[in-house]
Order: sequence, then C-alpha cells, then structure tokens
Amino acid sequence: MTYKEIYTESIEKPAKFWKEQADAIEWYNKPEVILSEDENGYPLWYKDGELNICYLALDKHIQDGRGDQIAFIYDSPVTQNIKKYTFSEVKTEVAKLAGGMLSLGLKKGDTAVIYMPMIPQAAFAMLACARIGVTHSVVFGGFAPHELAIRIDDCKPRLIITTSSGIEIDRVIAYKPLVDEAIELASHRPKKVVVFNRKLGARVPFKKYDVDYDALVYGSEEAACVPVNTTHPLYILYTSGTTGKPKGVVRDTGGYAVALKFSMTHIYNVQQDDVFWAASDVGWVVGHSFIVYGPLINRNTSLIFEGKPIRTPDSSTFWRIIAEHKVNAMFTAPTAIRAIKKEDPDGEFIKQYDLSSLKAQFLAGERCDIATLEWYQKHIPAPAIDHWWQTESGWPMIANMMGVEQLPIKPGSVGKAVCGYNIRIFSEDGTEVEPNKEGYVVVKLPLPPGTLLDLWKDNPRFKAGYLEQFPGYYFSGDGGYKDDEDYIFITGRVDDVINVAGHRLSTAEMEEVVSSHASVAECAVIGINDSLKGQIPLALVVTKLNDEIEHYQLEQETIKLVRQQIGAVASLQNVVIVERLPKTRSGKILRKLMRSIADGESFQIPSTIDDESIVEEIDTVLKKYKIGVYNIK
Ligand code: COA
Ligand code: AMP
Repeated sequence: MTYKEIYTESIEKPAKFWKEQADAIEWYNKPEVILSEDENGYPLWYKDGELNICYLALDKHIQDGRGDQIAFIYDSPVTQNIKKYTFSEVKTEVAKLAGGMLSLGLKKGDTAVIYMPMIPQAAFAMLACARIGVTHSVVFGGFAPHELAIRIDDCKPRLIITTSSGIEIDRVIAYKPLVDEAIELASHRPKKVVVFNRKLGARVPFKKYDVDYDALVYGSEEAACVPVNTTHPLYILYTSGTTGKPKGVVRDTGGYAVALKFSMTHIYNVQQDDVFWAASDVGWVVGHSFIVYGPLINRNTSLIFEGKPIRTPDSSTFWRIIAEHKVNAMFTAPTAIRAIKKEDPDGEFIKQYDLSSLKAQFLAGERCDIATLEWYQKHIPAPAIDHWWQTESGWPMIANMMGVEQLPIKPGSVGKAVCGYNIRIFSEDGTEVEPNKEGYVVVKLPLPPGTLLDLWKDNPRFKAGYLEQFPGYYFSGDGGYKDDEDYIFITGRVDDVINVAGHRLSTAEMEEVVSSHASVAECAVIGINDSLKGQIPLALVVTKLNDEIEHYQLEQETIKLVRQQIGAVASLQNVVIVERLPKTRSGKILRKLMRSIADGESFQIPSTIDDESIVEEIDTVLKKYKIGVYNIK
C-alpha cells in the first residue's frame, strides 16, 4: 500500500483500520467494540479488551522461544559500563520486583512514582508496575524536589521507586535526599520508598519507609501478569502546561499497545530483532514509548543510554554506540545533533566508525533547523527524518512513515499526517486556512488509539485545554502550516510553553518562582532562540519601588531559586531588570512582542499596546545585557 492509500483508509474507515491493527498484538480478551465514547462523549478505543502490556513486552517473547534475545543494552559512558539483559533475565527481575511490590501491599489500581536516571532498573520498575496493574508516574530526574512533591500530591503514590544516585557530566547527583525532601514538602505520604543502591558513593540517608531494591527482588516470588481492561491507566506522565501546575496526561493500556506496535513497524520501519535506540530519558514520553514499551512489544533490542551526546567522554559517543551495538534505527532531539556539530563540525569522529547498520535517524522533541538537518545528511549515511508529536499523543502524529513508503524529505517540514491523525490548520475562528498560511495545528476527533485518555483527576482542564477551543477537534498548542502537497511545517508553540534542549517547560511556572524573590514586583519569562538548546528562558524583571538590589545579585539569586524549585534542567541563565513590561491597555503582558524584540525578528506593534515607547526601552535593555540576537553569553 502507498502512504496515500493507507492514510486515507485510516481516516475514512477508522474502526475497520484499527480493528486490523489490534490483531497485531495478543489480548486476553480481544475487543469487540472497537470505537465508542466515554460518559463525556470522548472517543474510546477497544473498551471491552483485556490485556497486559508487560506480558506483551516480555513473557510473550519467552513463550515464543525468544527468551535468549537481548531485550536491553545498557550503555553508560558515565560509569564506563555496558551490560546486556535477555528477555528472560528482564522478565525474572521484573516479575520478582512486581512480587515484592505485592508483598508491600500494592495492588491493581494503586499508583507508584518512579524517580530514576537512565539505568535499567528504571525500566524494570515501569514494567513491574504494569505487570500488576499499578499505574506508574515517572518523574524526570532533572526536576527538583519541589516539582517531585507537586506530582506526589497530585497522583498520590502508595510507593516511590528510586535510586541512590544519577550521574551528570561532571558530578554525581544523590537522588535519595531529593526524594526525602520531596516527601517532606508533599502533603501526601507514600507508604514505602524502594531504593536501588548503585554504590557510587552518594549519600543515601536511611528513613523508616525505605526498602532495599536488591533485597526486595531477591526475597520475592515472581508475580504473574494481571489482566487489565484496555482503558486501565498504564501511566500518568506530567507535562508542562500554561499554568504553574503540570498536567497529568493519562495513558490507556490497550490503545497504546496497538499504537506502539503500529509505530515500530509502520513509522520506524524496524523488524523484530532489530536494535532500536531512542537517546532520550525515561522521564519523557519518548522514553516511555520508544525506550521501554514500543521496542519491547515489537521484540526489538532497546538501548538504555546513560550519558550525553558530548563530553561523555566526547562527541564520538553516538557513533561509537551505533557501530558497537549495530543500531538499526535511532531517535534523538535536534539539540543533540547541534551539540555534536558544534564540537566536531567536520565530522572527524564520524569517519572513524562503521555506521552501515543505521537505516534511519529520527528527530523530534523540538524544531529541527535546516542547517542541522543538512549537516546530518552531509556526514551520516542514513536519512534524517524529522517527525512531530507530544506527550499527549504518546506516538508520532506527523512523520515520514518509513515502514510504509519513504516520501521525499522536505527540509523544514515534519512530514505528512500519520495514519489516524486527521490534521488540519485552523484560523482563530475555527475555519480551515489555505495551504501555506499559518494557523493552529488541530486534529479532528476521534484521535487514534494510544493518545491521551484524560488529565489525571482533572477532566475540566482536559476539556478546556484541548477540546473546547475548536469543538470536535483536539488543539495541539502548536502553530504551523501545510503546503500544497500536504507536507506540514511546525512553526512553534502558540502558548507559553517553551522547549529547552528538547525539554518541555512552562514559562508560567518559572514566572511563579521568579516572582517569589523578595525584590521582584512583576516579571515575565519568555523563551528566546538559542543556537544550541533551540530555546532558553529569559526573565524580565521589574523590581519593587525603592528596592536597590544590584542586577548581579538579583540574577544569581533568581537563577538559584529556579534551580532549587524547578531544577537545573530549566536552564535559566539570563535575568534582566526593566523599568516596566509592555502591556495592552487592559493589562495583558505582551510576551510575544518581547520575544520578537529579543530574537531580532520583524514585528508589528499591537494596536492594543498601552505605550509604544516601551518597544525601544526593551530593545535598549536587551542590547545592554547582550541578550537574544545580541547574546554572547
Ligand atoms: N538529573 C539531574 N540533572 C540533570 C538531568 C538529570 N536527569 N538532566 C539534566 N540535568 C541538569 C544538567 O546537569 C545541567 O545542569 P548544569 O546547568 O548544572 O550544567 C542542566 O540540567 C541542563 O541540562 P541539559 O539541558 O541536558 O544541558 P547540558 O548543557 O548538560 O547538555 C545537551 C546539553 C544538548 C548535550 C543536552 O541537553 C542533550 O543531550 N539534549 C538532548 C535532549 C533530549 O534527549 N531530550 C529528550 C527529548 S527527545
Ligand atoms: P513533549 O510533550 O515534551 O514531547 O513536547 C511536545 C512539543 O514539542 C510539541 O507540542 C512541539 O511544540 C514540540 N515538538 C515536538 N516535536 C517537534 C518537531 N519535530 N518539530 C517542531 N516542534 C516539535
């Protein structure tokens, strides 16, 4: 089938199409009702199906005689360690950990938080939860205790699974004290904390609620897979929204399993046995879908990488791993390629490795600039495929479906709509715009299987955030346009979410933290262009009347506050003091205007502006601090 044929069929006959895809996985009870609606009228897939995703990821392959195949390769340049785990080994450890969790009183329907770096035990913990119907919520290790506490209070875990430490480029990060601090900060108290001790010398304070991971696994019986209904929440994954409170995206089990199997074959074009590497983190959706569940369901070997594209130890790491483990398809964020390109502009390291196993390099998480794409194509003998999706969708929405038909690559475009996603570009009033005109990227309901079910315990926010702006359509929060050939170009977020080195962050959340500084009367945080990280935050601050704090002190204290409250990953480095912020006459801060000034883009001064002279004022201040296009930091 051509792309056009398969895509058209998925849109015109969704129930028939997804019934066929559901046959690609094994169910305890195969669904008969393919597409229906929940009590709010929101589309539901496979509502009467029963399955277990841990069974699909592990046990099934062992039953099929493939237990000796490598499931995970853990490659950790930061600890100089490479370890391989077969499907049988993973299953034994996961089943015993699940058995241990049962002995701690966990049961189907409970929630557990996982706070871990990129080590195999993070994936084992996720799979152990899935095995017994416990809904997991993985929190990215770069988030500070305060952020962890917000998530603990929202999803109320009975258990937290963590480790002694993580390793960043130049330091060991003690995780356990961060978890203890988060528990202190939170109102909800988990019953137990399971701690995997990596014995890397970090401080591991002991608390009464602690349970040793190794002792728990060693002393427990293997737990069997518990069948769950299709709509059973496999996980809650918090992502940044336009307020200070993160949104708990709820993922179902059955639709997700079908969608991931479909993605591995039809988008990523990997065959069973292939080695798949998503160089991301289990704390992000990419890690959930394409480090853990997707590759394992498809019986691929998945790489767990603990390191960075550069400085661990140098910018040859990606190429060394591809060559050494014969990676067939890889996924990373453009920022990683930009980092490598900066350190090795002529690709000298690349020439030292045999990269012939690599069939395709997938890129996502942020906009891929054409220079980066071209650099990649010049140096690497595999197509670079940009594709677009979100935490909410759980799997790609726009791509070049490599397993169907490789369409010509148009630099700057993320490809065409993926099967099941009826993507439209709307103007503010909900009418479709003409080709090549920019608008809001929306998807006609029903979204295909595997996409978000709801926001955790917050259906009103789910409706208000995604469904109400354009009735009958899901609103992605991104802007973009389609060309005459239906290629889609994403131009960026239309809200206050920013993307820093492929990490999705909320400027509203940063504003809350910056505002808490005693000298700050008012502030705005905006995302400005950065040649390495894509975007970085910039805080513009108005100090309190008669407050004479020096800029240096305010900047340092604010940076520290953001690192403490949100985490180092926020990458706030620039804080500037302004006399006032540009506002409309009704008092709304004009963030987009400030972004355009900082990025040196042409802009129109909104007619609603309170006082036009502020444009020059902001420009002068940014020049003084050498920010944005003037940024030499
Ligand atoms: N635990 C603790 N701290 C973390 C962390 C984690 N899991 N992840 C990041 N941090 C810290 C970093 O140490 C850094 O701290 P610093 O300011 O003290 O140096 C800060 O958060 C920012 O981290 P990062 O954005 O990773 O920047 P970097 O300068 O260390 O590295 C890149 C730059 C481009 C190499 C890196 O961002 C990268 O590899 N990006 C790819 C992103 C990616 O895969 N995203 C997933 C979406 S697909
Ligand atoms: P996350 O939910 O963290 O995966 O972030 C999703 C957001 O990242 C999207 O809404 C986009 O704004 C951005 N994004 C993801 N992939 C791409 C891409 N290929 N091109 C441009 N932006 C992207």
